[in-house]
Amino acid sequence: MKIVVIGGSGLIGSKLVTKLREHGHEAIAASPNSGVNSLTGEGLAEVLRGASVVVDVSNSPSWEDSAVLNFFETSTRNLLKYGAEAGVKHLVALSVVGTQQLSSSGYFRAKIAQEQLIKSSPIPYSIVHATQFFEFIKGIADISMKDGKVYLPSVLFQPMAADDVASGVGRVAVSTPVNGIVEIGGPEQFRLDELVRRRLIQLNDAREVIADPNARYSGAEVGERTLLPGKDARLGETRFETWLTQPAAKVAAAAH
Ligand SMILES: NC(=O)c1ccc[n+]([C@@H]2O[C@H](COP(=O)([O-])OP(=O)(O)OC[C@H]3O[C@@H](n4cnc5c(N)ncnc54)[C@H](OP(=O)(O)O)[C@@H]3O)[C@@H](O)[C@H]2O)c1
Repeated sequence: MKIVVIGGSGLIGSKLVTKLREHGHEAIAASPNSGVNSLTGEGLAEVLRGASVVVDVSNSPSWEDSAVLNFFETSTRNLLKYGAEAGVKHLVALSVVGTQQLSSSGYFRAKIAQEQLIKSSPIPYSIVHATQFFEFIKGIADISMKDGKVYLPSVLFQPMAADDVASGVGRVAVSTPVNGIVEIGGPEQFRLDELVRRRLIQLNDAREVIADPNARYSGAEVGERTLLPGKDARLGETRFETWLTQPAAKVAAAAH
């Protein structure tokens, strides 16, 4: 099957392309680096020719409210338009568990807009809602800074390894479209402030993490269970402590 991965050079995209190829599929990594730009439409008609499935695991380079909204709205419109013209039979997009409850965040308003466009299109689709990636835990600290300290609510979350995210998305991509949402998550729950604190200590990052019930997650108000997947979620196998022993944790440490 020809499967085009938009954002195929990214954290999830590159792992997904490798896994799909290992399973014998013709997986194409598409991104501006390889001349395919979903925002401008450049290269989309060519890369989608003969494709059965398109997987969108791209992300906006800017998370500023209007920039990220423009990215997901315009890119998704282009993918749906060029996808329909190419006769694509399944569009898969990666989004985040709890997205519908996170509309006080500009980033999540953009993800809600992306999902809405996909749901209204005639192309059969599957939206994968993943929990936070282990690789992103330091990034959570970076987007939660005030006066040099990290402020986070002590809510529950159930993060997962990027490798398990890619496996979960790959499984959905080669299956029949669900025309709905599939949730995937990690095997264990943690308190958001506690795991970020642990990760910063592991990285010898001296920033203090303060549990603050009024702090937001990525600009959104969150409740105790907003970031948790439901009971039907497919859970990845990799535990946080196991992930720490893997090269991925070292790479993530070096990259950030
Ligand atoms: N972070 C989390 O914890 C989390 C949790 C659940 C879901 N998600 C979702 O996962 C998705 C992927 O995240 P990620 O961390 O894997 O992303 P990432 O590593 O930042 O990669 C982003 C990808 O998007 C591509 N891209 C950027 N602009 C593009 C454009 N105009 N046209 C086509 N491709 C473009 C990049 O291509 P170049 O390399 O060529 O620039 C890159 O391949 C996001 O949609 C995010 O919402 C994230």
